[in-house]
Amino acid sequence: MKFVIVCAVLFCTLSSRASAQNIQIQALPQTVNYRKNDLVIVCSITNPSQLNAVYYIQLQRNSSTTFETVVSVATGQTPPVQWTDTQLQGRATATGNVDSPSSAQLRLTIDKNSVICPTDFKMYMCKMTSYSNVVSDGITQETSPIELSYVETPTVIEMPRLRILNENFDTPNRQFPVGTMIQLTCRGEVGNDASKTIRWCTQKTNEMMFTELAQTPIHSEASLSGCQYTRSSTITYTLTKEDTFTQFLCESGDTGLCGTGTAIQYVNITIG
Ligand SMILES: *[C@@H]1O[C@H](CO)[C@@H](O)[C@H](O)[C@H]1NC(C)=O
Ligand SMILES: *[C@@H]1O[C@H](CO)[C@@H](O)[C@H](O)[C@H]1NC(C)=O
Repeated sequence: MKFVIVCAVLFCTLSSRASAQNIQIQALPQTVNYRKNDLVIVCSITNPSQLNAVYYIQLQRNSSTTFETVVSVATGQTPPVQWTDTQLQGRATATGNVDSPSSAQLRLTIDKNSVICPTDFKMYMCKMTSYSNVVSDGITQETSPIELSYVETPTVIEMPRLRILNENFDTPNRQFPVGTMIQLTCRGEVGNDASKTIRWCTQKTNEMMFTELAQTPIHSEASLSGCQYTRSSTITYTLTKEDTFTQFLCESGDTGLCGTGTAIQYVNITIG
């Protein structure tokens, strides 16, 4: 019984004296715009004056349930920066040093053209061993894991396909009699949010700008490739005598106003 109490007290003393965190992790930026931003993760020292020396810094990544070292920098290692994840080594760079507590850091950079989604968007943490002058002993500390998030912008959308309602084939025609019910279908990327869809806008000859179609589109299920979802969207539209020259657009990645989509295609219909 006595032994247990002593241990508990000792543990409390040690953990409170060692509790100052001397390692931090930063993702720059926190939310990566896929294919537009490099993915950068930096392990660096906080409160370097509390440390006499840093022996190693490791960057670890969560693979399934455990964290595994990706790359490390250590004293006595030649070269000082060494990769464990040789697959990532082929498409990333790492720099770092443990020369002094104030300069010690480890930086991983994956070029924007080499980032792989979702593979690279796991949880990361930094681990460090140093000699602390607060506890006069070697200490090993790690950061909390951080999760990188990403945004993927849609860029690819097909030209709208057109068929007369209830027909089995698309038609290349773009001119129809008044009263014809046409069905327009557009397939394209919608981004990394599965709830996003493709929407339709029109502009008639006498109108100043595109406005969203009142017709409710029928959306297909979203299919995923990498981190990008693709869908199609179909509307049915009945041509009136006002459709002397009507432009339709389908788009995704828009900010609300018609025509602001990052992926956009047009089709022109006339009556006659
Ligand atoms: C590691 O990632 C998996 C999913 O890939 C997750 O289920 C698990 O909770 C993560 N583990 C930790 C410790 O974060
Ligand atoms: C539709 O009409 C507009 C305006 O005349 C023109 O600029 C555009 O190229 C046309 N688009 C197609 C797909 O024919």
